[in-house]
Amino acid sequence: PPPPPPGPSNHTCVKLVNDAAHPFMTLQDGDIRGPCPGLNTLASHGYLPRNGIATPAQIINAVQDGFSMDNGFAILLAYATILVDGNPLTNLMSIGGKSPLTGMDPPQPAIVGGLDTHAVFEGDTSMTRADSFFGDNHSFNQTLFDQFANFSNQFGDGNYNLTAAEEYRFFRIQQSIAENPQFSFISPRFFTAYFESAFPLVFFVDGRQADGQLSMENATSFFRDMQFPDDFHRADGSKTADLVNNAATAIFSAHPMQPGGNNGTVNSYTFDPNSANLTEGCKLYTDFVNNVVVPLYPTPQGALKVNLNANLGFLFSAFPNCTQVFPYGQR
Ligand code: HEM
Ligand code: MG
Repeated sequence: PPPPPPGPSNHTCVKLVNDAAHPFMTLQDGDIRGPCPGLNTLASHGYLPRNGIATPAQIINAVQDGFSMDNGFAILLAYATILVDGNPLTNLMSIGGKSPLTGMDPPQPAIVGGLDTHAVFEGDTSMTRADSFFGDNHSFNQTLFDQFANFSNQFGDGNYNLTAAEEYRFFRIQQSIAENPQFSFISPRFFTAYFESAFPLVFFVDGRQADGQLSMENATSFFRDMQFPDDFHRADGSKTADLVNNAATAIFSAHPMQPGGNNGTVNSYTFDPNSANLTEGCKLYTDFVNNVVVPLYPTPQGALKVNLNANLGFLFSAFPNCTQVFPYGQR
């Protein structure tokens, strides 16, 4: 079975991460990148395998070392995604599109499509990536980044800050309602949209600055170029969990939304009472297991079942106040 996740880092200090041991390198033939500017950057600097194929443990170590993400968030994201986007038989996942490098697939309906796969984890109303309905849900989109920059100019004096994040998050939701007939904004995407809007405020600002004001120069470096700015220092790892939680809550509270979606036509946004809302973290966990993981693996056997159960257990460790669910039994 897969090994347990790495624990919290012993060293959480602000420090240089764009260092000699982790040089930026341009993409080689076959290297994969995807919808996450954080993981893309880590791969381009060798904190992750540069080809973009990684294990959950490699991802957890990389986000802790390179960005000071806390252990709980790292475990949650790494195991949620390996369960729906990765290969449970080889413990490998693509940080972008589907790849033969993750090994022989388990039986369908498993997808093993990498982080680009729409609607299992990746979702609509991203800040710098288009909705899947428009064709490309993972590549950097200059038009959307220009909008991001406009909001940063208008609300953050040229920086992406909390006010810009609050306004741009709400604007992107309104934009998807008005333009994407298939817009879906339910759990888990309902959660990840607010948290990902908070990430740049905490992780993309130099740890010596740590004022929640992200310049467009540095934003371009991460979102478009997948590169740490020169001399970039990571954030103080003892603070990132609280900072992210507080910012995500503020971004939601500035313009509260109900989870829901359009009904096949634009401007038909309808509340979905079955989706977890932002205060229902245990429902997020339970529904993710029962409604997203299990449909991909309805009746796993043998090593597949053993490995899925291990990964489900590791995912649950990120939800210490919830009750564990066992879709495949307890052993
Ligand atoms: C978006 C995965 C860590 C920053 C995403 C998306 C995925 C993902 C699948 C696409 C969601 C969407 O927009 O539809 C992961 C995983 C991580 C991780 C598995 C493992 C721990 C990080 C870290 C950072 C980060 C450490 C920051 C340093 C972002 C941002 C977005 C994003 C800012 C939003 C991009 C946009 O809206 O244009 N991530 N991520 N992520 N991620 Fe990550
Ligand atoms: Mg998206």
